[in-house]
Amino acid sequence: MARVYMIMGTVVYRTHHTWLSRLFLLCVTVFMVWTVLISLHLKSVFEVPVDSGPLQQHPDILGILRDVRRSGRTARGADETSQDDRTCLYRRGKTSIENGGTSKAAVCPEPHFASPEDKVQLNFTGVGQNEVDREIFINRTFAKIRRLNKEAQRDVDETRRNVLSDVSRRGRTCLRGSVDLDDYIYTPGGHWKPRHCAPRWKVAVVVPFRDRFTQLPLFLRHLVPFMKKQLLEFGIYIIEQSNDEAFNKAFLMNVGFLESLRFQDWDCVVHHDVDHIPLSYANYYGCGEMPRHFMSGEDTWDYKILYPDIFGQVFGVTRKQMEVINGFPNVYWGWGVEDDAIYSRILLHGYNRTRPEGEVGYYDTIRRDHKQSDSNKVRHCLLRHGRERVDSDGLYNIWYPVPRVTLEPLYVNVSVDIRPLAWNSTWTSCKNNALSNTIGSLDFFFNTFLGFRHVFKKA
Ligand SMILES: *[C@@H]1O[C@H](CO)[C@@H](O)[C@H](O)[C@H]1NC(C)=O
Ligand SMILES: *[C@@H]1O[C@H](CO)[C@@H](O)[C@H](O)[C@H]1NC(C)=O
Ligand SMILES: *[C@@H]1O[C@H](CO)[C@@H](O)[C@H](O)[C@H]1NC(C)=O
Ligand SMILES: *[C@@H]1O[C@H](CO)[C@@H](O)[C@H](O)[C@H]1NC(C)=O
Ligand SMILES: *[C@@H]1O[C@H](CO)[C@@H](O)[C@H](O)[C@H]1NC(C)=O
Repeated sequence: MARVYMIMGTVVYRTHHTWLSRLFLLCVTVFMVWTVLISLHLKSVFEVPVDSGPLQQHPDILGILRDVRRSGRTARGADETSQDDRTCLYRRGKTSIENGGTSKAAVCPEPHFASPEDKVQLNFTGVGQNEVDREIFINRTFAKIRRLNKEAQRDVDETRRNVLSDVSRRGRTCLRGSVDLDDYIYTPGGHWKPRHCAPRWKVAVVVPFRDRFTQLPLFLRHLVPFMKKQLLEFGIYIIEQSNDEAFNKAFLMNVGFLESLRFQDWDCVVHHDVDHIPLSYANYYGCGEMPRHFMSGEDTWDYKILYPDIFGQVFGVTRKQMEVINGFPNVYWGWGVEDDAIYSRILLHGYNRTRPEGEVGYYDTIRRDHKQSDSNKVRHCLLRHGRERVDSDGLYNIWYPVPRVTLEPLYVNVSVDIRPLAWNSTWTSCKNNALSNTIGSLDFFFNTFLGFRHVFKKA
């Protein structure tokens, strides 16, 4: 807070005795009075959901995390699939994909695009999922693809039953079957792997989702050809919150990360809003030494970003980075600032983010079917006290019931009933904490819109 006053003081000093300083002070006063009034008024609704009691716990999360930790230590690019054949869970069996003969192949060339001229051809005409499936799999193969996914679905369901009944039976099921499509090998659930070269990155695209059924086909119509053109290995995971709780995007991303690792040792996770479409093929969806924010501007903001430290919409982290930062916070129920909280975690662990410059990082948004979800009334308090929860809230305290997993031709549908986790008594309670929310919103205002580094960063 002291810093906020310092900043205010500096601004007033610099603009000493001018109309600007009076205007500025007036604005600040109005803003403060307004936030205090609002927060007092809303006091009763400043409530953080607390532990909703025992649900059927997912018995296998610890198993995935153990795998994450273990494989995080092996070098990237090392072929880890050899150990999978005995333990594959939903993973494809070894034979189906090794038939493609890619194991000894040279690394895929870094695709070169005459940036930024090499533009994605947008088509936002409304279509159904079925039409998009047919667009991508020409008729000849579509029937085959459908059959393949149906068979694999039976394996997935069997695995789910096994996990539910007895966790030690984890991993008896392997997905079978693949189809060669041009330069790619296709395996069920929309998993694509280059046929003639070893991909530079194995990318899981994780999309938090609820009730955006007209946007999803448009998203897939553009994203699948986009990723193929970049010669990446990839799979798309739609993580659907299947309840009426406030939407919790960051929690869903954690689920997406963990569940995607059941299918492949992804080494890069791209978190993607379903309504954002990249405009340039040169916007490479691989990861890097540092977490990457892929967006330098979007149509709704006149191809700019809202503030310099923004880290939402589309960003990529390696599996290792994800593990180091303990994933994302699980406590943000409702719209707002979870992306700032994620960015704060990233800074706190000594990472810097990278971002493409100029047109390469432009996005268009699919406007139809856009619903504003309920905002999170305690978000500023949560953000302010985020440091306390970095190590204790994220991947390593998460649990959720076993999701319903459906393999679709172009994506894997992970439908999950997430609920608030137990509130650790060492964390500041944001319940009824009107003051902290007010201060938090002021901090947020100064930090973001005046372009300062985030609150959370300071010790
Ligand atoms: C856009 O999509 C619609 C619906 O699938 C299709 O009829 C139309 O031909 C497409 N337009 C272009 C330019 O591809
Ligand atoms: C593909 O299938 C659709 C519907 O089954 C049909 O209308 C269309 O003519 C077919 N296209 C080709 C190229 O066979
Ligand atoms: C991040 O960037 C800052 C400023 O450019 C630099 O001082 C710092 O060393 C960088 N950190 C890492 C881990 O590269
Ligand atoms: C995902 O699966 C659930 C239930 O299994 C279903 O209700 C939902 O419509 C599916 N969502 C998508 C995007 O396919
Ligand atoms: C609560 O958080 C503290 C650190 O903030 C951690 O040491 C402890 O294990 C956590 N308790 C539970 C039950 O997760």
